[in-house]
Amino acid sequence: MLKKIEEAAEFIKQRISVKTVIGIVLGTGLGNLAKEIDTEKEIPYAEIPNFPVSTVEGHSGKLIIGRLNGVPVLAMQGRFHYYEGYDMKTVTFAVRVMHKIGIEYLLLSNAAGGMNPAFHIGELMIINDHINLFPENPLRGKNFDELGPRFPDMSEAYDVNLRKLAFQIAKENNIPNVSEGIYVGTQGPTFETPAEYRFFHRIGGDAVGMSTVPEVIVARHAGMKCFAISIITDLGIENKVEKVSHEEVQLAAAKSEPMMTLIFKELVKKI
Ligand code: HPA
Repeated sequence: MLKKIEEAAEFIKQRISVKTVIGIVLGTGLGNLAKEIDTEKEIPYAEIPNFPVSTVEGHSGKLIIGRLNGVPVLAMQGRFHYYEGYDMKTVTFAVRVMHKIGIEYLLLSNAAGGMNPAFHIGELMIINDHINLFPENPLRGKNFDELGPRFPDMSEAYDVNLRKLAFQIAKENNIPNVSEGIYVGTQGPTFETPAEYRFFHRIGGDAVGMSTVPEVIVARHAGMKCFAISIITDLGIENKVEKVSHEEVQLAAAKSEPMMTLIFKELVKKI
């Protein structure tokens, strides 16, 4: 695996001239942030050695390297989900490659179902912690000490300073409906039954989704600082659970995306 990471990282490094420490992972229906990047280079995943190719609708599968608000970034448009059938090493491979390239900060976005009764569709939830309910931990198996410790600390998975900065940015820019909360990561691809939403809320979750947690685990293992935002695209609130579809999730995500983009654009400047 180390060799595969190195090969992919070398391939990318040879094709970019700017040095960047900020990596961005764009979630379902949230690829528009990429348009704000003053692009130096786009690399389709299919061209990168050992890189998986993403399959889900709403993702186009490429790395975008350039400047966001003047700050060099490397963005992944399209991520790898466990529900697509990839194993956890594959789901998180790109994060390891980013680390090898020199990325120190990982910013992620996702679409999620809200379970906190105070939430509304379209609001942004800054993730302050997570509950990992995926059936497999990406760090299961032999530990590569070169990548990180056997038993990584997770006491501050989502960097407290980045969270503070994001709230400040939201306030300064009058972005409404920004809250914080705990993200429950599940394997999907089914959305939750009412009983599952209730269960996830009772164990402490504010929102639920099918991504982010594996990537953050691997990033923290490697010592990267993480920041993540969920766009609440549907509600799983007790007695108020409604039907939900992937199309609705994409639509709701796209509507709130400009607010999220603004936070990301300002945040990269303050890092
Ligand atoms: N559940 C799980 N994943 C999701 C949801 C949800 O309600 N909405 C968007 N992604």
